[in-house]
Amino acid sequence: MKVTVVGAGAVGASCAEYIAIKDFASEVVILDIKEGYAEGKAMDLMQTASLNGFDTKIIGTTNDYSKTAGSDIAIITSGIPRKPGMTREELIGINAGIVKTVSSNLIEHSPNVTLIVVSNPMDTMTYLVHKTTGLPKHKIIGMGGALDSARFKYRLAEALDAPISDIDGMVIGGHSDTGMVPLSSQATRNSIGVSEFIAEDRLQQVVEDTKVGGATLTKLLGTSAWYAPGAAVSSMVQAIACDQKKMFPCSTLLEGEYDLNDICIGVPVILGKDGIEKIVDIPLSEAEKAKMQESAVSVSKTNGLLEV
Ligand code: 2OP
Repeated sequence: MKVTVVGAGAVGASCAEYIAIKDFASEVVILDIKEGYAEGKAMDLMQTASLNGFDTKIIGTTNDYSKTAGSDIAIITSGIPRKPGMTREELIGINAGIVKTVSSNLIEHSPNVTLIVVSNPMDTMTYLVHKTTGLPKHKIIGMGGALDSARFKYRLAEALDAPISDIDGMVIGGHSDTGMVPLSSQATRNSIGVSEFIAEDRLQQVVEDTKVGGATLTKLLGTSAWYAPGAAVSSMVQAIACDQKKMFPCSTLLEGEYDLNDICIGVPVILGKDGIEKIVDIPLSEAEKAKMQESAVSVSKTNGLLEV
């Protein structure tokens, strides 16, 4: 199993580190355009191998896509991260060109690759990859919902004063500060609805805190987060690499599902060896359906800024 990570910044390096530690891949290639940067990150990570107990081989390359040849899975993290006060959508001008070039270069050397898009605005970047490459839709996956769901569970555990391992919950919709749809009506603590444990106003605060989870961290860190994005990606990569048939909310091209068409947005999918193996239709409340439609309008508006 060969995995390529494009972008040796904090998110990309975290992706590579967590994938290596899980030790299901034979090789991880980190690629960056900054001279020597990916090579340095790869070497530093390899020097943790004996300490963290993995045999995955990590190599770095400065913009040489031939080193990525034959990748089974590739993760696109390249592009600029947002600064405090910015929206993800404001990154489109620079990141669209980068994502278009990177995806084309990856596919040239790995025609059967499964691409995971992280670069923001992620739903629109995922849509861009559909529009500019010939990859089948089940091999183009946007990472947003897995991260947002992890933040949702964190906030729920905080509100319930419960261990996170007790909590389950999912966020669908757009990966944006206003477009996320945390499914609070279906979140549970050990199969019991969370509304049995906290009042409605506290649950609504959890929803709001989840939606701005990324912006909250960007304000604290001065740049986008990287640990949780990296962990979310590594879990998705493992599900594909190990054919786990796990359900994740991922951004994928909808063609009528959830009453949406010609858009990439977060919905529950089954991840396995073929990438997105199934889009799962789950029951939504009328309010959740309305929020999903609103989110789609916002994502489509951002898609309209693309020059494809
Ligand atoms: C986040 O929400 C980078 O969009 C990513 O942290």
